[in-house]
Parts: sequence; structure tokens; C-alpha cells
Amino acid sequence: MLNKNIVWHDHYITKEKRSSKKKQKPCILWFTGLSGSGKSTIANAVESRLAELNRHTYLLDGDNIRRGLNKELGFSDADRVENIRRIGEVSKLFVDAGLIVLTAFISPFQKEREVVRSLVEEREFIEVFIDTPLEVCEARDPKGLYKKVRKGEITNFTGISSPYEAPTTPEIHIINDKQSIENVAEQILNYLDDKGYLDAR
Ligand code: ADX
Repeated sequence: MLNKNIVWHDHYITKEKRSSKKKQKPCILWFTGLSGSGKSTIANAVESRLAELNRHTYLLDGDNIRRGLNKELGFSDADRVENIRRIGEVSKLFVDAGLIVLTAFISPFQKEREVVRSLVEEREFIEVFIDTPLEVCEARDPKGLYKKVRKGEITNFTGISSPYEAPTTPEIHIINDKQSIENVAEQILNYLDDKGYLDAR
């Protein structure tokens, strides 16, 4: 509930001033996909490429944020909604700081992703669907979680006992079962370049 005794302050240094110093257009690259789909790996590769180009970035990652800011949240639907709400607000602050933000969260619900989109300006939210079939994620099983799920040791697991609502019109759609990470990163860099995100404001 918004307290009516809290008043918004405008600052002298604006998003426009901050991002023009950084010579880039701030945005959120919102990676979504199943556990083990490759979101974090790809986001890391894209962030590395952006760093080589002297762009200013910040990567927010599900497993890390759940050890700090969101450490009391679990995997019920309500907790996932709250997880994404907070990440959306943090991402919005970082966009205001002039950064290219990369987020790697399963973010299974269409509605919550749309809520984050609505927090920022049009063109500041780029949905990147890392579309990897469940069988491939399970075969990769980088953290051994699918094995635990099959043994009944983890409940509410996305794609198995908790839903994943795939994006219907993502800005970027990556089928990630055969391509190299470098190739995928290249496609995302090309998108940013073509759309002018790497140019000064
Ligand atoms: S989200 O659904 O709220 O967006 P988030 O991306 O933060 O999820 O966290 C997902 C990560 O937590 C997975 O990559 C996996 O390592 C771990 N995890 C642990 N339990 C679960 C679960 N029940 N469902 C999905 N991921 C889980």
C-alpha cells in the first residue's frame, strides 16, 4: 500500500544524463527459460562481450539473488511472483542508472514478465526466451536438480511439478539445444547493435 505521506523526489541527474555519459541506451535483457536451459551461461557470455565493447552492465542471476536480497523466498507460486517483482524493481533502478541490465531468472509466469515490462519505457524491456526442451535440460542437469526431482526430493519444480508459461512474442527467441554459446551471444549482440542500444542517446 502506498503511503500518501511519501513524496516522490525528482533528481537533477537524470537517466538521460547518466546514460549519455555511458554512450549507450539502458535496457533490460530479460532471459527466461527452464532450469538448465542456459540462461545464466548465455547472459554471462553476452555481458562479457558487452564489457569488451566498454559498455556498462549488471547481471542479476536467480541463484545468486536468492542467497541475498531474496533469501527468504522459496518456490511456491506466490514466492516466485514476489521474486520477480523485486527483480523488476531492482532492474528498473539499474536502468535509471544508465546500465544495460541482464537478468537470468526462470520467471515462469507470463503475467509477471508483463508487469516488469510495464515498469520501464517501451523498448527498455527485451524479452529473451531461451527455449531448450525439458528433455535436454534434464539430460544436461548441471546442478543435479532434475535427478533429485525424480527421486522426489524437490517439489514444485518448474517444467515438472510447477508450470512454465513460454513467452508468445519474445523480442529474441533462441532455440538452445545445438548452437554454441558464442553463436547465441553473437545473435543477441547483433540485435542490440541493430536496434541502436549500443549507440549514444
Ligand atoms: S523463479 O521461478 O522464481 O524465476 P529463479 O530463477 O529465481 O526461479 O530460481 C531458479 C533456480 O533455483 C533454478 O535454476 C534452480 O537452480 C533452483 N531451484 C531450486 N528449487 C527449484 C524449484 N523447485 N523450481 C525451480 N528451480 C529451483
